[in-house]
Order: sequence, then C-alpha cells, then structure tokens
Amino acid sequence: MKEPVFRTESTLTFYVNGKKVVDNNVDPEWTLLYYLRNKLRLCGTKLGCGEGGCGACTVMVSRYDRVKEKVIHLAVNACLAPVASMHGLAVTTVEGIGSTKTKPHPVQKRIAEAHGSQCGFCTPGIVMSMYTLLRNLPKPTMKDMEIAFQGNLCRCTGYRPIIEGFSSFTEDWEQNQAMYNNKLINGLSNGNGCAMGDQCCKNKFNGVTSNGGCTRDEEVLFSKTEYTPYDPTQEPIFPPELRMDSSFDSQYLIIKGKRATWYRPTKLDDLLLLKSEYPEARIVVGNTEVGVEVKFKNMVYPVLIQPNQIPELISVSMNSTGLRIGAAVTLNNMEQALRNEIELQPEHKTRIFLAIVNMLYWFAGKQIRNVGAVGGNIMTSSPISDLNPIFCAAGCHLELHSKENGIRYVKMDETFFTGYRRTVVKPVEVLVSIIIPYTEKEQYFYAYKQAKRRDDDIAIVNMAANVEFNPGTNTIKDISLAFGGMAPTTALAMKTKSKLVGRQWNEETLEEAYSGLIEDLPLNPGAPGGMIQYRRSLTLSLFFKAYLAIMNNLDQNKVPEVQKLPDKYQSGSSGFHSKTPKSSQYFQVVPADQKDTDLVGRPTVHKSAFKQATGEAVYCDDMPYFENELYLALVLSSRAHAEIVSIDASKALSLEGVHAFFSAKDLQEPQFRNCHGIIHDDEVFAAGKVTTQGQVIGAVVAVDQIIAQRAAKLVRVEYKDLKPVIITIEDAIKNESFFPGCPKEICRGDVDAAFRNSDHIIEGEARMAGQEHFYLETHCTIAVPKGEDDEIELFCSTQNPTETQKVTAEVLGIKSNRVVCRVKRMGGGFGGKETRMLVVSVPVAVAAYKLNRPVRCMLDRDEDMMISGTRHPFLGKYKIGFTKKGKITACDIKLYNNAGHTLDLSGPVIERAMFHFENAYYIPNARVRGYICKTNLPSNTAFRGFGGPQGMFFAENMIRHIASYLEKDPLEISSMNLYKEGDTTHYNQPLEHCTVRRCWDECLERADYNSRKMKVDEFNRQNRWKKRGMSVVPTKFGISYTLLFLNQSGALVLIYDDGSVLVSHGGTEMGQGLHTKMIQVASRALDISADFIHIAETSTDKVPNTSATAASCGSDLNGMAVLDACETLRKRLEPFKAANPKGKWVDWVRAAYCERVSLSATGFYSTPGIGYDISKNEGIPFKYFTYGAACSEVEIDCLTGDHQVLRTDIVMDLGDSLNPAIDVGQVEGGFMQGYGLFTLEEMVYSSSGIVFARGPGVYKIPGFADIPSEFNVSLLKGAPNKHAVYSSKAVGEPPLFLASSIFFALKEAITAARAERGLKGTFKLDSPATAARIRMACDDEITAKFPEPAADSFTPWNVVP
Ligand SMILES: Cc1cc2nc3c(=O)[nH]c(=O)nc-3n(C[C@H](O)[C@H](O)[C@H](O)COP(=O)(O)OP(=O)(O)OC[C@H]3O[C@@H](n4cnc5c(N)ncnc54)[C@H](O)[C@@H]3O)c2cc1C
Ligand code: FES
Ligand code: FES
Repeated sequence: MKEPVFRTESTLTFYVNGKKVVDNNVDPEWTLLYYLRNKLRLCGTKLGCGEGGCGACTVMVSRYDRVKEKVIHLAVNACLAPVASMHGLAVTTVEGIGSTKTKPHPVQKRIAEAHGSQCGFCTPGIVMSMYTLLRNLPKPTMKDMEIAFQGNLCRCTGYRPIIEGFSSFTEDWEQNQAMYNNKLINGLSNGNGCAMGDQCCKNKFNGVTSNGGCTRDEEVLFSKTEYTPYDPTQEPIFPPELRMDSSFDSQYLIIKGKRATWYRPTKLDDLLLLKSEYPEARIVVGNTEVGVEVKFKNMVYPVLIQPNQIPELISVSMNSTGLRIGAAVTLNNMEQALRNEIELQPEHKTRIFLAIVNMLYWFAGKQIRNVGAVGGNIMTSSPISDLNPIFCAAGCHLELHSKENGIRYVKMDETFFTGYRRTVVKPVEVLVSIIIPYTEKEQYFYAYKQAKRRDDDIAIVNMAANVEFNPGTNTIKDISLAFGGMAPTTALAMKTKSKLVGRQWNEETLEEAYSGLIEDLPLNPGAPGGMIQYRRSLTLSLFFKAYLAIMNNLDQNKVPEVQKLPDKYQSGSSGFHSKTPKSSQYFQVVPADQKDTDLVGRPTVHKSAFKQATGEAVYCDDMPYFENELYLALVLSSRAHAEIVSIDASKALSLEGVHAFFSAKDLQEPQFRNCHGIIHDDEVFAAGKVTTQGQVIGAVVAVDQIIAQRAAKLVRVEYKDLKPVIITIEDAIKNESFFPGCPKEICRGDVDAAFRNSDHIIEGEARMAGQEHFYLETHCTIAVPKGEDDEIELFCSTQNPTETQKVTAEVLGIKSNRVVCRVKRMGGGFGGKETRMLVVSVPVAVAAYKLNRPVRCMLDRDEDMMISGTRHPFLGKYKIGFTKKGKITACDIKLYNNAGHTLDLSGPVIERAMFHFENAYYIPNARVRGYICKTNLPSNTAFRGFGGPQGMFFAENMIRHIASYLEKDPLEISSMNLYKEGDTTHYNQPLEHCTVRRCWDECLERADYNSRKMKVDEFNRQNRWKKRGMSVVPTKFGISYTLLFLNQSGALVLIYDDGSVLVSHGGTEMGQGLHTKMIQVASRALDISADFIHIAETSTDKVPNTSATAASCGSDLNGMAVLDACETLRKRLEPFKAANPKGKWVDWVRAAYCERVSLSATGFYSTPGIGYDISKNEGIPFKYFTYGAACSEVEIDCLTGDHQVLRTDIVMDLGDSLNPAIDVGQVEGGFMQGYGLFTLEEMVYSSSGIVFARGPGVYKIPGFADIPSEFNVSLLKGAPNKHAVYSSKAVGEPPLFLASSIFFALKEAITAARAERGLKGTFKLDSPATAARIRMACDDEITAKFPEPAADSFTPWNVVP
C-alpha cells in the first residue's frame, strides 16, 4: 500500500513523570510496562500477570480533552497498554508521585502507615489506583474507592488495612469524624471517648484495646488523625506542551517495528483504506483482547490500527430510537453516557441502559474499563462477553463501514454470530457504532451474570431478558432471551421465544420457559468449561430471577391477573453488592513504663513499607542489569507422561540474539542431573521422558527476554505418549501409585476396641482441593559468575537461600563455599518458594556457569502456574465412633495427598496433616494413615499450613457429620470435644498452656453468637432463595519443623564504630515483617533505638546452613539467634557502659573499638526439648501450639450459588505479640488466603494433565470486595508464651484454617436451603465451596432437571486432582 500523502509522524512522543520521552525506535509490540521497566528502568511498576488481571502494573495515563477542556486521568494496566498508544499522553508512575528521599505522597504514606503493604509487590499498583482516583475526585466516597480497586489484587494483606488507610481520604470518613467530634462536644460519648458508647469494647472486655474509636493513641494500630492532609493543588501539572499543542491529536502516526506496524489514522476514510488494504489488520483500542492474544496465544498481528482519534468512532449521540455509541468509546465513557441518559429520560425508556450500567459494574476492573471499548467487546465475539447477550436481547443495530460497500446496518440477532469468535462483519468492514434502543412502557429488561468471583471476573453464564407485554396485560407480546457461556457464541433462545409469545407471565409459563431453555441450550457433558449441570441450572435460575423481577414490576404497575409473589420470594430476584466494610482490631498494649525506644510489642510499621509504597524497594527483577547479561527462557513439556523422542533446537538457535540451548545432555554426569527434592527425584532438565506437563526440558539463552521467549517456543520436542496418565487421587488409588513408605501411620489407644464400645459409628469422606500460591512476584533468579575459582553469586526470590546454594553447588559439581545466594526480599512466598525456585534457579545457574556470563530469568505468570506446583489436594476417608451425646471415642482415618510427579516436600506435608487431623479435639483412640499419591501433575509443595489445614478440615467435617447424625448443633459437638489443659494429643504430646477454650469462649462472646444465630434462623424462615449460615471453628497449630534438624537458626550481628548495627540472620523477608521483628528484638536486646539497626539482605555468606523461612518459625528461630548474638555483644559492651554511665551508645561502641574488643558476634539457636519418632509414636514434635477460633456468618444466593461473608470474628492467641500490627496483618492476610482456599480458588486441569488455570483470568484469588463486611480480629491478652522470643508466638500459618468457618457457615446455609425441600441429614460438600458447588448442593426443582450423567459415559473437560 502507498503511504498516505499527507504528513505522517513516526516518532513516539509522550511524557513520563513530567519528563518528555521522544523515541523513534519503538517497537509497536512493546507494552508500556516493558518500556518503563526495560527502556526507562523505572522498575517501581511491577509485572504480576501480564494479562490485566492483578493491577500490579497500574499507572496513571493523562490526556487533555480538547472538547471538555480538561485533563482526564485514567488508571491503566501498563502490561496491556501498547507503548505506541501513548503518543501525546502523560504517564505517571509510582516513582513520579513521591519518594522516601524527598517526600512520599500522602497515598504512599497512608498505605504504609496503615500497615497496608506486606510484601509490597502489589503496593505500587494499588497506590496508583488510589492516586488516580484522587486526581479525578479529591474527596471520593467509599463506593468510588471500591470501584477503583476492582482491578487490583493483593495476596498478603487481606485488604482491610489498605481500605482502612485509604478511607481517610473519603468524604464518608470526614463525615464520620465530624459526627464523632460532635458527639464528644455534645457529651454523648461514654466518657472514654469512644463513639461506640456503652458498646465500647472497653466496657465489655476489661483492658483489651481497639482501634474502633477508643481514645489512647497508643492503643491503635495507626492513627489517622496524624495524617498530613491531602492537598490536591500540590499535584504536578499536566505537561503544558501536550495541552497547548493539538498536533499530537491530529498526527497520522505510523510506527514500524520488526514484525508489526502501528497506524494511528485520524480520519475514517484513512481507516477504511487501511482495512481495505489489510483486511486482517487488528483495530486496537484498549488492547485488552489483542494484548492477551499476542502474549499468551502467540498471535502475531503485522498491522495494528489505533482508531482513537477518529471522531465517528469516539462520539456518542442520541436519536429518536436510542443512543448511538461510537465503537471506540471506552466502556467507562459508555457507562457515563448511559447514566446521563438515565438521568434525562423517563425511567421506562432507559431500562436497557440501566441493565448495561449494572452489568458494567461487574465487567472487569476499572483499569480495563478505562481503556477497553464497546466495539472490541462486540467484535471479539467471545461466547462469554457480558455485553453481547444484552445487545442481542435488545436487538441493537450496528453501523458498519467499508471502502468497498459503504455503510450498512446489521441487527444483533440470532444470525449475527456465525461461529466461535466469528460474526457477519466482513474483514474489510469497520464497526463504527452501535445503536442501543430505548424501551417502551410495557417492556422490561433484566441482565444477570454469574462468575466465580463477583468482581473482575468473566462470566460462567450470563443472561439478558427483554420482555414486552401487550398494553395493560401480562400477555407476552415479544420476548428475547440471550445467554453467554452456553455455546460457542452468544446464544438466543429462539424455541423458548416461540413457546412464550402470547402466554401470560405466570407459573405455567415459567415451566414452559424452563422446558424451552433446556431445549435451546443443550451442553454435552464434556463441553469446554466444565460445570455442565451447574451452567445448565444457571440458565433456568437466571431466568427465574428475571421472572421474579418482572412479576414484581407487573404487580407494581397494577397489571390485572398478576399473581403476587410470596414475601419469601422477594429477595430472590437480586444479587449481592458489597457493603462498606467495618472492622476492629484488639490487642494488648505495652506497659506504660516501657521505654519509648523499646519497640517490642508495639505496632511498628514494616521496615520496607515506605520504600514499597514509593516503588523504591528492589525486588529480584528490579536489579540493574549486569554487563553482558543474558536472559533465559524455559522449554516446558506439553505432555503429562511421555517419552522424549527428540529435541530440535536448531530453529531457536538460528534466531538472531540466541546464544545457547541447554538440556539434560549438557549435564553429563548422572549425579548432576537429579538434584533437587528430598530424594533427588526432581530433574534439572527432563532426561528421556517427561512425567508431568510443565516439566523443564531445556532452556534457551538469548540477549533479552523477548528473543529468549520467542526462541523457546521454536524448540521442537517430539514425544511418544506413555500410559498411564494419573492425575487424580482416585486414579492413584486405583493404580496403587504411591511413593515408597506409604502408608505412614500414627496410632494411639486401642482403636478397634473403642469402636466396639462406641454408641455410634459413622463413616464418610471429604475432599479438599489444592491452591496456587499466586505470590504476586513470580519466581526469579539472576546468576552472576565471578570469573575465578568457580565462584558464582545468585540473586534469587527464594525462602530457602541455603537450599539454592547447596543444589547449585551439587549440580555444578563445585563446593558450597563457591556459591553465594542472596535474597533481599520476595514479593510473597507462602511456601511456594521453599523448594520450587530450584526449577528456575538451577537452569539459570547452569547457563551462567557454562557461558560465564550473568543470566536472568523471571517466569511469566502462566509459566509459573504451569510448573511450580500447588498446595496438595487431599482426600480423607474416615470412620468415627462417638457416644450418644456426641463425645468422640475413636477415629480411624486415611489421608491421601496428591504429590504430583516427584516427592518434593510431600512426605512432611502428609505428616503434618496426620498430626493435625484432629484439629483441636481430643480423640482418645485414633489411627491415622497417610498415603502420598504419585501422579502426573507438577510437583505439589509447601503452602502456608503445610498440610495442617487439610488435616484440620477433616476434623471439622467429622464434627459436623456427628452433629448432623445426632441432629444437634455442630457448636455443641465442637465444644464438647475441645481439648483442655493436660489432654494429650494422638501423638502423645501433653498440652500445656492450652488456651483454645479461652479463644473459643471469647470468640463466641465477641461474635454475640447466640443472639445472632437466632436472627439467622429468623432470616431463613423469611427468605426462600437467600439463606444464611453461621459457624464457629477452633484451631490448634503445632509450632516446629517436624524434621528435627531444621529447628536451628543463626545470626550475625555487626556493630560499626559509628554505632550503627548490621543484623543478618537466616530468615528471609517475604512480606511477613520478619526483618522488622528482628530489628525490634535487636533493639530491645541491645537497648538502643531501632534507628541504629539495619538489615540488608539474607545471604549464605553471612549465616550458613539455614533452614527455609517456613513453618511459621521465622521469628521464633531467628529471633532467638539474633537475641543470642546481641546478648554476647551487650555483655562485651557492659564494662564500657559501666565506666561511662552517662555516655551514649556510640560512646560505648567507640570505647570498645579503641580497646580492641570484637564488635561482631554470631548467634545460634536450636529448639530444645523436641524430637519425635513416628514409628514409636513417641517424643515431642512441637515446641508449643498457637490457638485460635473464628466465627463467620454468610449469606448465599440459592439460585446462583453466589455468597457474601457478612461478618467474621477471630480470636487468636499470639502470646505477647512482638508487633501487633504485623501479627494482625498476618491473621487477616492468612484468613483471606484461607478464604480463597475454602471458597474460590480452583486449579483446573484436563484429564490428560494440562493445567488450564494459568493466570488471574481463570484462577481467582479473593479481591477487595471479598473481605467480610464486618471483620473483627482480637489477640488474646495476658497469655505470654515462655517458649519463644520475648514471650511471643508464631503466627504465619495458624490463622489460615480459621477461614474454614466460612466454608462451614456456607454449609449451614445450604442445609437451610435443602430443608425447604425436606432434605435432611448430611450431604457432601467438597472444598472449595465454589458457586457451582453451593448451587448444586442447594438441590431444588431446577437442579433436579439436570441429573449427572454416568461417570464413564463421557470424557470430562476437567478433573479434580
Ligand atoms: C483482565 C480482563 C478482564 C476482562 N473482563 C471482561 C468481562 O468481565 N466481561 C467481558 O465481556 N469482557 C471482559 N474482558 C474482555 C475485554 O476487556 C473486552 O472485550 C473489551 O471490551 C475489549 O475492548 P478493547 O478495546 O480492549 O479491544 P481490543 O483488544 O483493542 O480489540 C479487540 C478486537 O476487536 C476488534 N475491533 C475493535 N474495534 C473494532 C472496530 N471498530 N471494528 C472492527 N473490529 C474492531 C479488534 O480488531 C480486535 O480483534 C476482559 C479482559 C481482560 C484483559
Ligand atoms: S501485571 Fe498488569 S494487570 Fe497484572
Ligand atoms: S502486599 Fe499485596 S501482594 Fe504482598
């Protein structure tokens, strides 16, 4: 094609943080994130997923709107935004708004001070979402904030502190403050200054403190009143050049890259010309579809056209039939336009508009809606599009233009979609606009969506219903029902339509509609997407919701002959909307006489929080490039079990910039091949055969990431499939595929005799799925050969630097003293970086060593999820004996975990599950057997709780099974069997200082259990389609590694002659605040201010032979080692202090130095008094236990399976907390992670072992809106623990299991729903209690229409491992 004759521009010009960037060498395939991180080296903006699903990459993009004459600020996902689309725009990153070196922005300050940043990897993105909101709305409401965070995820904090910190910016908070002050002024307070009056916690729990409005500043985790006010006038100005110079908008931009050219025409004719020349060209507005296709589906689009400057495509106008919306209008702008119309027009005219606006609330996150366009949604033609069912049911018209055929209008009806992602629109045609019609008085329009997670998730099934009645009657004149998620295209229910037209809107019609929909929307049992019965049930359930809503409309409009809905049915038509969250945190304050410099017990802010909030904190991939550095990309197996016939890397090697390919052949010595894992059964590179999909076969090393990844995809691997392919636990049992040494057994008492003497015996089984770690920072390693003596340095995102060092040395055939592994911080670990980092770090080390050049690799999210394994799925089969009252007398249980293809840590994981299968209940006679299933999945590994939560889950299932059998309240059975002081566990450990009863009682009281339970029952009587449930769960978690030798730690403390102290210890920082706590310990031990103390990193050349930072013992072990080293130094300094009592720390240090006294000391600790022999069931496995209890209340939507957590109260015994802010953060964060585990998160695998869940698009972790509407956390007071540093207790893992209170509350709610149909007794509910499982367990007239087909009659799309 000839280039346009008029002026074109090929240089990209935009602003970043106020500085002009002019680049004439831009590749249109680069994203803004790539450009920021790799070209500008602005590494504050993070890569969490690369698919718009986590928000870690959020930046603010600003443009000058010349029509409105104002600057528009948008939060944007830099990982999807093409850098070429930034022409004439201003980008602001987290570095651009504040810094610890100058002044942090109030947004940065408040998230840090509110303890809203743990690992900090999500923090810059969250900061930028909040910052952008404030730039647009300096006084937002809580609702605005809720919307702003729909596209951001955090895996650590549990969100509460972030919301609370930022709530101080809102109008709502100011009003509350004003009210509160007013109350005080008017003398309405209870005298202690708390707005809660008589309900103040102080009046209820003597001496326990809260941040819920109580007076003393030291009693709060942070004080909002001390915040520096936010002053919007201080914000940087929009670059004047971009405001003044309109030519940026009118330029025809053409940017040529190696594989693609970017066109930005400004006239419709030029666009049509381009489309005529390049019919396959992609029109890119938000790039939220195209970007994902390029990154994850390997699509290459040589011509990309940005239409955002073409007036016809970005305008909105009205005519007599409806609203005309340009195809490039963003979803947010469309929403605004619709809202304006809703305001202006009579209600009946805008019912479709309202349905769209309501739907957009659940459409993606704010960042996506800011850039994604309506045209992109239509033209992508996804079968799960949220808008297309609405547009089809509404019969919208599309305006299509082409150079060849001029203008034509097509209706979005049953003929519009011609196949999967295909429409009647011709390749040369451009969608210019959509016309959305007004509605008539007698016309009603409803749309519903059901997704796995309410916020920011694609639909499982959605539906739009457009029903028109003959005037003044309930006779259907016309009806259109459109569904998404039920076919390869949006599907219109045409048979249903013909059945219903002319009928009255009543119960008979409802039945007729059901039978029509069953015919219209068939799904074969193996259809893609799975959940077949659920999806089919949803079509009817969603229709039923519309039926209820329209019935109410007809009733309100006094249409004759309309059957009035029973009151019980009213709540059935609506779904859930999140409520403004409420929370409180209670903890013990330090004694009034504690020195100000002594930080132990105080809610000190995480040491790195400010750096994390400003983007200055350096994570592994943020490290500057080393000279000559290369990048490594892994070649992964696409088969679960196959022989490797050949590997051909020739094409990859011929790519310019590729340096090498490594595979098993390069590790000649067999002893160097199988090096990781406890029994060395994990290969560095698969040799001969693969035993799981995602197994590393080789690695390509190239000059940069893009080339390395492109080349890795060119490596051809030929396989010959092998049998069997074992994926599930059931498969493994059938094939007797267990790792050696199974079953492991722990037995106490005479179990068989106890069964004989039991009043009742029941048997059952329960299933619990795995969980992806979803740390926001994926695995990353940089290996740097030092050039002599085989020395090599590894910078690695790992919880286990020693293991990294050891295995690297083994594989390279060198000694450990040549390898140094350094860890500054991780962006989350949760157990996933305890051993699995080796999958990345060892190939990187091999490549660096062999090429003698630095090599880097950070996994993409999909790679990470494909290869790094998950929490172990579990199956438990139990038999339990009990008395008439419900007291447990005997238990025999078999536990199976799905280990994956290698052993990794599956042995200790099954053991911990065996130790914890009784949770907090005394079982006098118990036999537990553990089986480790060998399957063809990626190796499953450690994950917060390490098998403990899985074990405890079975205990809670058994309690509820007994309760259901005896028809008693589960609370009674739990309470009756709860451990008490002096009881011994089934592994014969006596319980000392057992506080579980205290936690339990306090939890019930705080939760006001009894009166709320009555209200729950009342609610259930009054509502048929919504049900509530409440549940209380205790926990007891054993603290120590069960492998004895791991219970040791070391520290190195150096004092320099200026008084500054450098502490090194064996633990790693992954957000849990370990370094902060260690500084607190050192500060008390040395009796100095924490300002003197610094922790730089964890490094194997400072402290050797460390254990992984895991098992919750980080603070216990390292705290003792730091204390040991500090005490040595303190003793050495004592004479100097005595000689100069009025002197200061620095004086004593200087004096000691001048006296030639060593100012460095090592510390060491090994946990005393533990050791257990499983073969004899003798000894003490755990130093002590952390206890807790939680009570949760939930509401479910029986028609969709959706749910909402109304309230959670937690009481935890954390001894004398070292840092209540960090500990409360661990409780809340652990709880929310557990909430994901028990309700939301599902790894999806095909029956041939392919991992389908490869990113946040499919795998849903909890979001901001998922936290309990009321979330109260209380740390038990007056419960010091003599077994750990400064009487504290371990906290990381124990709270996670408490989230099962939500699971069991859901089960209670389902029980209430089932009772409506007369269904009584126990029923199976596997974990997680997803919407699909909840809906199907509710078991009603609708679900009964879709019986499960026989298991062997089809191949399911997915299996539960
Ligand atoms: C994290 C995430 C969450 C999402 N959530 C949802 C969701 O909840 N619901 C939902 O329905 N979708 C969702 N999507 C999909 C997507 O955001 C929407 O489909 C969006 O509307 C696409 O618009 P876009 O401008 O970004 O499309 P682009 O990626 O820019 O373009 C998409 C396609 O449309 C074609 N196209 C665009 N405009 C025209 C035109 N004028 N004429 C002809 N062809 C055109 C392009 O050629 C391209 O093939 C999500 C996507 C992401 C990444
Ligand atoms: S990295 Fe961009 S949204 Fe996750
Ligand atoms: S602090 Fe949010 S992901 Fe770690």
